[in-house]
Amino acid sequence: MTAEALEISQLSKTFRTADKATHVLDNVQLSLKKQEFVSIIGPSGCGKSTLLKIAAGLDVDYEGLVQLDGIDVSGPSKEKGFIFQEHRLFPWATVEKNIAADLSLKNPEVRQKVDEMIELVRLQGFEKAYPKQLSGGMAQRVAIARALVRNPQVLLLDEPFGALDAFTRNHMQESLLDIWRQNKTSMLLVTHDIDEAIFLSNRVVVMDARPGRIKAIIPVDLPYPRNRVSASFQQLRTQVLSALDHVEEEGNSYEI
Ligand SMILES: Nc1ncnc2c1ncn2[C@@H]1O[C@H](COP(=O)(O)OP(=O)(O)OP(=O)(O)O)[C@@H](O)[C@H]1O
Ligand SMILES: [Mg+2]
Repeated sequence: MTAEALEISQLSKTFRTADKATHVLDNVQLSLKKQEFVSIIGPSGCGKSTLLKIAAGLDVDYEGLVQLDGIDVSGPSKEKGFIFQEHRLFPWATVEKNIAADLSLKNPEVRQKVDEMIELVRLQGFEKAYPKQLSGGMAQRVAIARALVRNPQVLLLDEPFGALDAFTRNHMQESLLDIWRQNKTSMLLVTHDIDEAIFLSNRVVVMDARPGRIKAIIPVDLPYPRNRVSASFQQLRTQVLSALDHVEEEGNSYEI
């Protein structure tokens, strides 16, 4: 057992095609402690999704060290839950079947766990609904439940709330904090939303592009639940924006 849930060290990644090599990540160092919530923010194309996929074991073609609880990451595993920007639910399956995925609901342990997760993401009454009958926020909650049902040590979230309206987004952020507190899962979240990063995380990692590297790591020492309109929240917003401005000054555009 180590204190780090996820340890990324000297990570570099180059995409190679027949005529071109794109150096996407350069010497990235990042550790995620157990039960820590870290957000990553940075310009479009700086390699955030690439970094998350490598951490998840979905891409194993990299240089450097990526370890989960002290063991090299060599492929996807049940210790790592991944939540994509779009929910990727099976349209032909009900909510409960989507959550169980390849696990059988006939197994009483699976049934109990699925029910617990449905309660956690507040979808009671929608067990038999199909994805097309759900709102975007509900569908994303099903995706979160599906990832959590396997008790992952680490949850990797790639802009999970990007497509949601501000109201649903705030609600989902609060749900995610509840889930984090109850399940004690370590969280690594990619977002374009500075407020979301500050509202949720223990640390905000600011990335720079071409090639992607870590520009700044900003600790957020505010107690939970956080007040988005407080002076200390505003101060942190300025700090993150200023780190992003430095990224922009060097010729990259930051898109929110
Ligand atoms: N499979 C691939 N083959 C070649 N290049 C790729 C591949 N996937 C990503 N890239 C390149 O790697 C860079 C980083 O992409 P990535 O998707 O990680 O960025 P991102 O930071 O997640 O951007 P966004 O904020 O827009 O989601 C981009 O320049 C992209 O073109
Ligand atoms: Mg991305």
